[in-house]
Amino acid sequence: MKKKLIAGNWKMNGSLAANEALLKALLAGVGQPACQVAVCVPAVYLAQCQALLAGGVIELGAQDVSAHESGAYTGEIAPAMLKEFGARYVIVGHSERRQYHGETDELVAAKAQRALSAGITPIVCVGETLAEREAGHTEEVVKRQLAAVIHTNGHCISEVVVAYEPVWAIGTGLSATAEQAQQVHAVLRAQLKAASPNADRIPLLYGGSMNAANAKSLLAQADIDGGLIGGAALKAPDFLTIIAAAS
Ligand code: PGA
Repeated sequence: MKKKLIAGNWKMNGSLAANEALLKALLAGVGQPACQVAVCVPAVYLAQCQALLAGGVIELGAQDVSAHESGAYTGEIAPAMLKEFGARYVIVGHSERRQYHGETDELVAAKAQRALSAGITPIVCVGETLAEREAGHTEEVVKRQLAAVIHTNGHCISEVVVAYEPVWAIGTGLSATAEQAQQVHAVLRAQLKAASPNADRIPLLYGGSMNAANAKSLLAQADIDGGLIGGAALKAPDFLTIIAAAS
């Protein structure tokens, strides 16, 4: 059985002091988990977190990356830069970036490609809004978002991680039920299978109010290979409970 992946998305939270306390608590409690664990931190804290996590079982990730390799792109961060600071993963296409920064399916696909070419695994987020779900468009939306990434990345699609994050469940405390999540994961798995003979090894994460209480039932679903966790990743006991549920 492939190992599950539990990735924390710290979003725009943290400070030097808070990061140190959180990572020390996680390192003290994590032991030798049977799943993979990562934390995706604000870029300015990569160096600090790289040092704190050195030699341990928790891997490091970033939350966004440029679609360009280098050059005149003020404020952007190249994948090679993330790589220098130990990033193994980078989140791309989070709904907050799509919503507040106008990121299109094509840009998200280009970012995933750029990350892969630098040797960083992109965690590609897809997910429908509440209005889209209520209009019955969930499948169509997530398939369109994933299709762009498949189209741009070709056979490299087997190297990505996909996270299904229904927008209405993010930060709302209103998680998708295990059945709702599994239903969409099955759709995404079928789409990946049509694109790649190695689709079974692509981790499909669920994200959106996953917490210490609901992690076990979500992670028990056939096509849920892990979680992308926001709020609950900022509290060491909660994040450790989710890691245990995946182990
Ligand atoms: P949440 O965030 O766990 O706080 O809902 C998940 C995410 O946005 O990745």
